[in-house]
Amino acid sequence: MDSFPMPDTRRSAPVFHGVADGVPVTLSFADFMAAALYDPDHGYYADPDRQQTGRGGDFITSVSVGACFGGLLGREIARRWREDFGAADRFAIVEQGAHDGRLARDILEAIAGTPLARIVRYFIVEPAERRRRWLRESFDGNPPPIGDRARIVASPDEIREPAGVFLCNELLDAFPVHRVRFREGQWREIRVEVTAPGRFREVEAPIGAATSLLRETGELGHGFPEGYETELCLGVAPWALSVAPIFERGCWWIVDYGYEKEEYYRPDRRRGTLRCFRRHTAGEDPLEAVGETDLTAHVDFSRLRRAAESAGLVFEGLTEQHRFLTRAAGPWLLELERDGTARQPENAKRLRQFHTLTHPDLLGQAFKVAEFSRRA
Ligand SMILES: C[S@@+](CC[C@H](N)C(=O)[O-])C[C@H]1O[C@@H](n2cnc3c(N)ncnc32)[C@H](O)[C@@H]1O
Repeated sequence: MDSFPMPDTRRSAPVFHGVADGVPVTLSFADFMAAALYDPDHGYYADPDRQQTGRGGDFITSVSVGACFGGLLGREIARRWREDFGAADRFAIVEQGAHDGRLARDILEAIAGTPLARIVRYFIVEPAERRRRWLRESFDGNPPPIGDRARIVASPDEIREPAGVFLCNELLDAFPVHRVRFREGQWREIRVEVTAPGRFREVEAPIGAATSLLRETGELGHGFPEGYETELCLGVAPWALSVAPIFERGCWWIVDYGYEKEEYYRPDRRRGTLRCFRRHTAGEDPLEAVGETDLTAHVDFSRLRRAAESAGLVFEGLTEQHRFLTRAAGPWLLELERDGTARQPENAKRLRQFHTLTHPDLLGQAFKVAEFSRRA
């Protein structure tokens, strides 16, 4: 688990390096996806200089919409610090899946000049060595509170703090998943056969006896149509165990798209939720343009809740993004109204971003915030 989700090269090396003696090998889809996204040289996320998010990349995230998202999260964190944590003199923000560090900058900028900025420490958890180096360089040299507050670490194990907020946006949807298919009354595993470098083929195989995949598919039951496909993200439980001990007292905010179990495994969702994104176009075939395409699957929020509770956290609720952000935006919107400044260009721009983040047809409803806590 130490290196999750970095690929286990003993298993996934053939994805980019081919097969010995031309003998095909098969991998679980999760090993294939880990290599396709995180191979240190060829994976989709390997090159920190390549733009994946935003208009010029492959897909939009709430962070890439603009500074509004981080601005509101920063305000909400500052409020919680004052009201729920009694303005504690030691307080940390921990972000995982920070990508290019944009959200960290937006949050730190939002709290600049407040009493929280004087004491807060902002940790970014980034397992990929190359991206860690790149992030360090990009934070060094920024004026306070950005340059002097951010610490980049390889694993959540390196952080033990008395109090703080953990957050991640679109982290879990980028975790490798196993794929299964329901055929003739039984679940079978969808695996990937590598025949030569860059040449892949899907193969179906029986699910191994006494594996967690067997137990998981057993729990899904058997009321599914012939050919039904879905995904199982086995990495969520070990990940929850890794982030739960970070704070003695804290909040954990997991922002992502996804469903609770009944909705996720609805019998009419016959092709599952796995998607491939390239230049804002959703593709169907995960075995095409490997290393050039984003692969993502929706989050099963029931699984996340079970995992977090087993790791000792308390479930506080699952809220659609528009509700979470509108609540956080209350004081800002009142200020704009009171001061009559809503039309000033910077505020008007943020309000347009707020609309994108909260409108139900844009990002407001598809994205949800799963909130967990631990109280001392
Ligand atoms: C879909 S992108 C989201 C980026 C950013 N949070 C945003 O919202 O724009 C997913 C990011 O999670 C990172 N990631 C995946 N697994 C990770 C892990 N275990 N620890 C830290 N980052 C991880 C990927 O490298 C990638 O940068």
